[in-house]
Parts: sequence; C-alpha cells; structure tokens
Amino acid sequence: MQTKYWNVNELHIDENYPAIKEAAEVLKNKEAVAFPTETVYGLGADATSEEAVDKIFQAKGRPADNPLIVHIGDVTQVKELTTEIPEVAKKLMDKFFPGALTVILESNGACAHNVTAGLSTVGIRMPDHPVAIALLKACNLPVAAPSANRSGRPSPTTAKHVKDDLEGRIFGILDGGPTGIGLESTVVDCTGEIPVILRPGGVTKEELEEIVGTILVDPALLDKEEKPKSPGMKYTHYAPNAPLWVINGDPKKIEQQIKSLQHEGKKVGVMGSEECIHELKGVITKSYGSKNDVKDIARRIYDVLRSFNEEDVDIILAEAVPKNGVGVAVMNRLEKAASKILITES
Ligand code: TXA
Ligand code: MG
Repeated sequence: MQTKYWNVNELHIDENYPAIKEAAEVLKNKEAVAFPTETVYGLGADATSEEAVDKIFQAKGRPADNPLIVHIGDVTQVKELTTEIPEVAKKLMDKFFPGALTVILESNGACAHNVTAGLSTVGIRMPDHPVAIALLKACNLPVAAPSANRSGRPSPTTAKHVKDDLEGRIFGILDGGPTGIGLESTVVDCTGEIPVILRPGGVTKEELEEIVGTILVDPALLDKEEKPKSPGMKYTHYAPNAPLWVINGDPKKIEQQIKSLQHEGKKVGVMGSEECIHELKGVITKSYGSKNDVKDIARRIYDVLRSFNEEDVDIILAEAVPKNGVGVAVMNRLEKAASKILITES
C-alpha cells in the first residue's frame, strides 16, 4: 500500500480543513491513519470496528494482549464508552482533558473487543492537539490509537519517525510537525477506591495529587518482579537497535565504562546531558539537552534514541536523569529500553 501524506502543519486547523475531512473519511472506511497529538504520534482506527482495529495490530506488529487507548474529541463521549464514571475520574478529567492523561474506566462494551484485549476496562484520552481534535471531531468516532511506531521501537515524535516505521503499512500520515511533550500520556486506573498510576507520563504524580490527594503507583513500576497491571508495561520498549545501558551522570564513571567496553573492542555511543557529554572524548556522543531542563529532555529523548540507529555503535550508554517530575517518565522509558542498568542510587 502506498502511504498517503498530508501536511497539516498550520496554525488554524479545524474539522473543515480539507486534509482533515479526507483523513476522517479514511477512518470511517476502516483504514488506519497516523496523526499528531501533544504527547507522541498515534496510529488511529475506528475503535468500534474490529476489522479497523486489527489493521493497527498488523501494521505495528503489536501483541494482541496489549490494549489500545481510545481517543475522544469531546468529554461527553466518555459516558458512551463506560458503565460508570467515579468521582475521582471526573475530577481528573475536569482538570486534564484535554491533556496527557489516560483514565482507565469500566468498559460498557461499545468498543471492539480487540481494543481492550479482553479486559473489562477501557483506557480513554482526549488529546490536546488541534490536528487530533479536528480529526476526532470530523470523524465523530472513538478512535483507538497506540503510539505510531513498530512495536518495541521508540515512540514517534515527528511524522518522519512514523514514516520510517510504517511507510507502506498504513493508509496515511497527517504531518502536524514535532509533538510538544515528547513522551506518552500518564495512564491512571480509576476503577478502584484510590487511583493508581500504571504508566508514568506527561502529567506528573505531583500534578495528579493536587487534584485527587492520594494516588498510588503500580508496584510493578517500582519492582521488576511484580506483574504490571497495564499489559503494555511488561514488554521491552522504546529500544534502539544497539543494546542500551543506563548509567549515572558522573563523567568519570562513564569514562571508565567507555574504556572497559573499548578494551573489549566495542564501539561505544553515549547519550546524555550537554554538561556531561562535552567532557567525553573518543566516542560518538548525542546530547538530549541540558540537565536543568527535564521537560526538554522528555521532548528530545525518543529522537535521540532513534538517531543511534544511523550510527555504527555496538553499545549505547545513556545518562540517567533524576526521578523528579517528568524525569520519572523519562527514566521509566530509558529503563524499559535498557538491557542493563548501572545505577548506584545516591
Ligand atoms: O500519549 C499516549 O498515550 C499515546 C498517544 C498516541 O495518545 N498513546 C500511547 O498508546 O502511548 P500505547 O498503545 O503505545 O500505550 C498504551 C498503554 C499501554 O501500556 C497499554 O497496556 C495501556 O496503555 N492500556 C490501554 N488500555 C488499558 C486498560 N484497559 N488497562 C490497563 N492498561 C491499559
Ligand atoms: Mg507505545
């Protein structure tokens, strides 16, 4: 299939914009279309059609037991997909819809069963991006959309990333320029008494706590032995081609590690903060931004991970970031991408 490409990187996009109308028709015809959101690019299909949703799984090579997030263009659609909306979910949606939050609620079965991978719950998100909202309004459907990458690869933050992974495998790509946050939404299970973070993301734990008071974290995020409640969290993810080791940001220690790897004949690449990598010599280095701006690191991290696939390296050392604010999500992604974690907690 020849993948169609629409440029929608413009200021004033709404549901009447010709490319948006065309892409909405494609969704109604049960084909898959990639579109930008404020977090990462999503690969969308009609969430009520098993046939359409199956095209997402096929194109991505995604395991069938990993459920998809359903995207809506209007908050009122939540009640069309769920049996009940607990108070805590209402509060979170009031504050963070549209935004980088996915709420898990009890499903009423309105979505095709492959969307929820057989679970009784459904993940719902209203993205905060003009192209995504215009598309969702124009098709007037709940749209299932995982990140628009081949399964296991870093999520796409530009249309080029989507093209690199899915060209020829999907009907079309709406190019709305680079995404803003650069990491996926925070997934929060709202079906129990106290909400639980299943995946850290663009909205931080502190921001959630301000709205609902207490919030728990899925034990699997803290302890590798625990089985995660969010099926997607059990897979290796976000990984570049070469093995990646996460390492503390002490240039001296990184240098030692580089030397010992080079001694074994390995070509080493390092991704890290400007402050750290400018001290390193004799290896390929890529900066993910300044130590002092973790939001910028979040925005750039997937692009840097992907860019190593164009380098001839045997191993990538990735400098850890402090686990504060969105740094929690950055570290979650680095740890998921990693085959080894060399961090001494200080
Ligand atoms: O920012 C985002 O969330 C992006 C954009 C495109 O919206 N989407 C995204 O989708 O990251 P995906 O499929 O790559 O990740 C969805 C995550 C997976 O970890 C999945 O297991 C979890 O959400 N999930 C979806 N439905 C769930 C459910 N009913 N219960 C528990 N976890 C669920
Ligand atoms: Mg994904």
